[in-house]
Amino acid sequence: MADKVYRASTTAPVNIAVVKYWGKRDAKLNLPTNSSLSVTLSQDDLRTLTTASASASYSGDDTLILNGEVSDISGARTQACLRELRARRAALEAANSDLPKLSTYPLKIVSENNFPTAAGLASSAAGFAALVRAIADLYELPESPSDLSLIARQGSGSACRSLFGGYVAWRMGEQADGLDSRADLVAEASHWPDMRALILVVSAAKKGVSSSSGMQQTVATSGMFKERITTVVPKMMDLMEESIKNKDFEQFAEVTMRDSNSFHATCADTYPPIFYMNDVSKTAIRAVEYINAKAGRTVAAYTFDAGPNCVVYYLEKDAPTVLGTFYQALSSVSGWKEGTASVKSEFQLEDNLASVLKDGVSRVIMTGVGEGPQKTNEFLVAEDGSTVKR
Ligand code: ADP
Ligand code: DP6
Repeated sequence: MADKVYRASTTAPVNIAVVKYWGKRDAKLNLPTNSSLSVTLSQDDLRTLTTASASASYSGDDTLILNGEVSDISGARTQACLRELRARRAALEAANSDLPKLSTYPLKIVSENNFPTAAGLASSAAGFAALVRAIADLYELPESPSDLSLIARQGSGSACRSLFGGYVAWRMGEQADGLDSRADLVAEASHWPDMRALILVVSAAKKGVSSSSGMQQTVATSGMFKERITTVVPKMMDLMEESIKNKDFEQFAEVTMRDSNSFHATCADTYPPIFYMNDVSKTAIRAVEYINAKAGRTVAAYTFDAGPNCVVYYLEKDAPTVLGTFYQALSSVSGWKEGTASVKSEFQLEDNLASVLKDGVSRVIMTGVGEGPQKTNEFLVAEDGSTVKR
C-alpha cells in the first residue's frame, strides 16, 4: 500500500479578542507581552476547512493549497508548526514500529476559508488552528488542545485561542521556552450560550499595517504600552474572567470596550502612529454608545482588531435593541439572516450616524459564541491524493 493516502479533515473557528494580544516578548517563539482573552465564534458563519494528507506516493516538498491557490509555506512560522508536529509523530513511530512512517512522507494540505482571507476577520487564527488540528489528527497525536495551542501559537499568536470553543484565555506565561504560554478554557460556549456578535465589515480589503509588524513598532516606541501590559491588562483579565463566570454582560461589555480603546490608544501612541480605525469605525462606536444610552443600560459592546471592522457583542435577549437598531440603518447591506427584519427596535439611530454607516459598511455578519475545531468527513483531498474541485 505504498501509494495509500492518509487523510484527516477538520474545521476551525475564528475568535475575536475582548482583551487583546498586542506585543511580543519573543518574536521567534511568538511569546506575548500580555495575556489575552477571546470569544470563539460559531463555525456556522465563519470557518476554515482544512484537509491534511500524507502519502509515500507524494513527491517533493510539503504543499498548502489555500482557497484554490498554491500558498507559500516556506515562512518560518508555518515551518515551525510543521516541524513540531512532525517531530511528535516521529517520536510515536520510534516507539511503535508498526505505525506507518507518516513523518517521512510529504504533506499535502488543502484549506478553504468561507470568508475573506487577510481582511481583518481573523483568518490567520482559524487557518493556523485548522492546520495544526488537521495534521495532529492525521498523525494521531495524543496531545490535548492546550498542548496543540503551543504549536498553533507559533503560526499566529491569536490562533492558539481557536483550538477551543467558548471563552478562551491565552496565558502569557513566563518561561523563556514558552511552554507555559498556551490557551486555557475559561468557560465552554454552553456556559453562556446567548452571546451574539454582529460584525460590521467596513473594509474587506487587505489591511495596511500587519498585526505582527504593528505590534513590534508599538513595543519599540510607545510609552503608554508599558502601562498597558503591566497595569491595565492584568486588571482587565481579572475583571473579564469574573464577568464571564458570573455571566455579567455589563461588566463584560465595559471591559471589552475599555480594552479596545486602550489597545487603539497604544497604536496611536506608536511612533509614527498606527491608525486601524477609520471614520466609519468611530461612527460605529457612537452608534453603540447611542444604543446603550437609549436602553439605559449597557446592552452592546464594540471592539476592533487591527483593522476598521467593528465587532458588536450583545446578548440574544437584547437583539431587538441592538440588532434591530443596526438593521434599521443598514437594511440595504448584505449579510442579514432571514427574520432579522421582524426584530424591531424602539430606537432609531440619528440620521448623521445612520448615513455614515450606510455608506461605509459593506456587509454584516451575524454570529455568536461557538464551538472549537470539529473533525469532519468532508475532505478537500480525495482518496487518490488529488485536490477535490469545488
Ligand atoms: P487576518 O486578518 O485575516 O487574520 P492576516 O494577514 O493576519 O489576516 O493573516 C492572513 C494569513 O493567514 C494568510 O496570508 C495565510 O498565511 C494565513 N492563513 C489564512 N487562512 C489560512 C488557512 N486556511 N490555512 C493556512 N493559513 C491561513
Ligand atoms: C489585534 O495573532 O494576528 O487581533 O502573532 O503576529 O500572527 P501574530 O499576530 P496576530 O495578532 C492579533 C492581534 C489582535 C488582537 C488579538 O487577537 O488578541
